[in-house]
Amino acid sequence: MSYSKIKALLGSTDFDRAVTVKGWVRSRRGGKPVWFIEINDGSTIRNIQAVADPAQFSEELIAQITTGSCIGVEGMLVASQGKGQSMEIQAKTITVYGTADATTYPLQKKGHSLEFLREIAHLRPRTNTFGAVFRMRHHMSYAIHKFFNDRGFFNLHTPIITGSDAEGAGEMFRVTTLDLKNPLRKEDGSIDFSQDFFGKETNLTVSGQLEGELGALALGLIYTFGPTFRAENSNTPRHLAEFWMIEPEMAFYDVNDNMDLAEEMLKYLVQYALDNCADDLKFLNDMYDKELIARLQSVVSKPFTRITYTQGIEILTETMLSKKKKFEYKPEWGADLQKEHENYLVEHFGGPVMVTGYPKKIKAFYMKLNDDNETVRGMDILFPWIGEIIGGSQREDDYEKLLARVKEMNIHEESVWWYLETRKFGSCPHSGFGLGFERLLLFVTGMTNIRDVIPFPRAPKNAEF
Ligand code: 4AD
Ligand code: MG
Repeated sequence: MSYSKIKALLGSTDFDRAVTVKGWVRSRRGGKPVWFIEINDGSTIRNIQAVADPAQFSEELIAQITTGSCIGVEGMLVASQGKGQSMEIQAKTITVYGTADATTYPLQKKGHSLEFLREIAHLRPRTNTFGAVFRMRHHMSYAIHKFFNDRGFFNLHTPIITGSDAEGAGEMFRVTTLDLKNPLRKEDGSIDFSQDFFGKETNLTVSGQLEGELGALALGLIYTFGPTFRAENSNTPRHLAEFWMIEPEMAFYDVNDNMDLAEEMLKYLVQYALDNCADDLKFLNDMYDKELIARLQSVVSKPFTRITYTQGIEILTETMLSKKKKFEYKPEWGADLQKEHENYLVEHFGGPVMVTGYPKKIKAFYMKLNDDNETVRGMDILFPWIGEIIGGSQREDDYEKLLARVKEMNIHEESVWWYLETRKFGSCPHSGFGLGFERLLLFVTGMTNIRDVIPFPRAPKNAEF
């Protein structure tokens, strides 16, 4: 198969040669003296223009070349005399692969709202906006693998079906083959999961971390990059029921090493976007958010602020008392930071903020307990616009302390026996974190709704396509 990608053609100055392009028609205009056809093949946000002499093509054929139709054009690539493009293709043959009825094709030249485009997720990749977003999604995914590979990390594939609740939040989707209308029951009337496919209760994973730790305690440095599932009923622009998470786990790293790596990674990824997605970023910057590129540049240019949870609460309390800002939720030591608190801290410091030393009772069982017995070595990274983009911690590596936390938090010991056992055999200090891939994408694309940075969003009452 020989055809050129439009991106490659637009990047060349090798004119007066025969080329073939294949793609989707963005527009057709002109008429008597000449037809102009704008074609996009997804390789770049930019289109290439084909010019067609009406004397050479039948009216029937031209009539089929409408917005949304799929065509191939073979012809001569020439420098263009016209304004607005540096080159064009003088069409010799045109093949129509698929017509698109102009009266029913939903994507018209005028702009559509992002809400409307969500309802046609099967066609929205054909718009400039979603082409840009999904190309950037690819580049960020590649950059993540490159970042870790270059630093000696191994990509570990952790299971999607598990029997444990890593985060202990109980927000899981059940996996079962039992007959829901008539499940087998035990004598006491409860469902007999020993008869289920895996012989036990299973669910879709909320995180690959626990298995990731097993990898780190053998391979040293690992990362996972996979889908995770949360049945939390939060209908917000920052939550999905199915999202992708990157979870590195590092043997011999303490919480400070963990923060250093997270900061280095985030800056690397943002810089990668600036360096490799210039056309798409410029489009998104012009179209949606004039501050986007400046915001990205600002994040890579200065160190992230590091504070403790206690310092954070102090700043918020002072702010509240001095009436500089009203909070809906009173900042209180021991309570989780609310979105408004996170936003304020980011604003206050004028950039990303890393928070450590959270009260143990608001964090997961696996975080390493500090000597005060009250706080844990958790670390969250708060980002402008996004709020929490990363959550992580140094892990509890002491068997007795970990077991005590499992019991305190009513976690089924038998579902995590294998995790506990790693603290009996060659345990070591180790740390890791989870980056929400779609939250990163919100930041780098400037999109404001998380459903617009994943091709097929899964959210409450939403699993079409
Ligand atoms: O803070 P979380 O719950 O941490 C963990 O799952 C740890 N096991 C990570 C680790 O230490 N290995 O989630 C990590 C990140 C959040 O900071 C957020 O960016 C993203 O995952 N996230 C979500 N993204 C989209 N939709 C949701 N419902 C999300 N929940 C968490
Ligand atoms: Mg978190």
